Amino acid sequence: MKGVILAGGSGTRLHPMTLPVSKQLLPVGDKPMIYYPLAVLMLAGVRDILLISTPHDVPHFRRLLGDGSQLGIAIGYAVQERPAGIAEALVIGAEHIGAGPVALVLGDNIFHGAELQRVLRENARDVQGCVLFGYRVPDPERHGVAEVDERGRLVSLEEKPAVPRANRAVTGLYFYDGEVVDIAKNVRPSARGELEITDVNRVYMERGRARVVDLGRGFAWLDTGTPESLLQAGLYVRMLEERQGLKVACIEEVALRMGFIDGDACYRLGAAMGNSQYGRYVMDLTEGSLR
Ligand code: DAU
Repeated sequence: MKGVILAGGSGTRLHPMTLPVSKQLLPVGDKPMIYYPLAVLMLAGVRDILLISTPHDVPHFRRLLGDGSQLGIAIGYAVQERPAGIAEALVIGAEHIGAGPVALVLGDNIFHGAELQRVLRENARDVQGCVLFGYRVPDPERHGVAEVDERGRLVSLEEKPAVPRANRAVTGLYFYDGEVVDIAKNVRPSARGELEITDVNRVYMERGRARVVDLGRGFAWLDTGTPESLLQAGLYVRMLEERQGLKVACIEEVALRMGFIDGDACYRLGAAMGNSQYGRYVMDLTEGSLR
């Protein structure tokens, strides 16, 4: 499965923090926000990824992540000239996606849960149509909302409805089969002039080819949209990491555990950041394997 990370936009709700730097490069805990969705794709087994951002920010992401080979993956880059909608990522990424399937993730979405890898891998296998991931929220009107009937079938999808029909937000992680590029190319821009991802998902729903997987108890889906929620997300990550002695979304650790890199390569990545607590953690992951 191919991967696409959309990490553009103007981040206006986080000004002035996002005046010089993209939202998805801001820290959440001890690492840049983009590490979290990148780790999600890697945990799903995705190794060929296109990162899409603004003309100004692509060079920053490239400096951070390079071509991905140090993690045993491939990362390419593409520019979105202006924020013309999440679904535009599927049009910009058409060549990369090819015949699919593809996992699209928003660069500001943070997922956590012990079962996350299992759920991702199960649903990444043999994607038919589209797979959406639902999460119960107190404020569905701020999100895409999915309504499911008593038999578990998806019956409505709405983007930020004034009067939500359900309390299930559609999170910013989407698995699609090879039809998605054609569907995205044929979606009409919304009143805001954007290619809405919810319109793409609705086409799948109307064809009876969309499924929702609920991330229930035991999963966290964290918001990073405001200074308060960004700080809370960082504190949540820090608390978990302190209690467990394990990091969340340490991409070097994920690469090692997925078998994308070996212990020596992982140690070298840690050593290059060895002055930081993060770097020492990465080195310690493989202490046993090195003499
Ligand atoms: O986070 C999940 C939600 O993401 C979904 O529930 C909604 O259905 C979906 O529309 C989206 O809603 P948001 O209000 O979060 O969308 P926003 O415009 O803030 O964009 C989400 C991220 O994607 C943000 O970090 C900026 C980036 N983005 C957005 C657009 C529209 C781009 O990089 N380019 C774009 O053109």
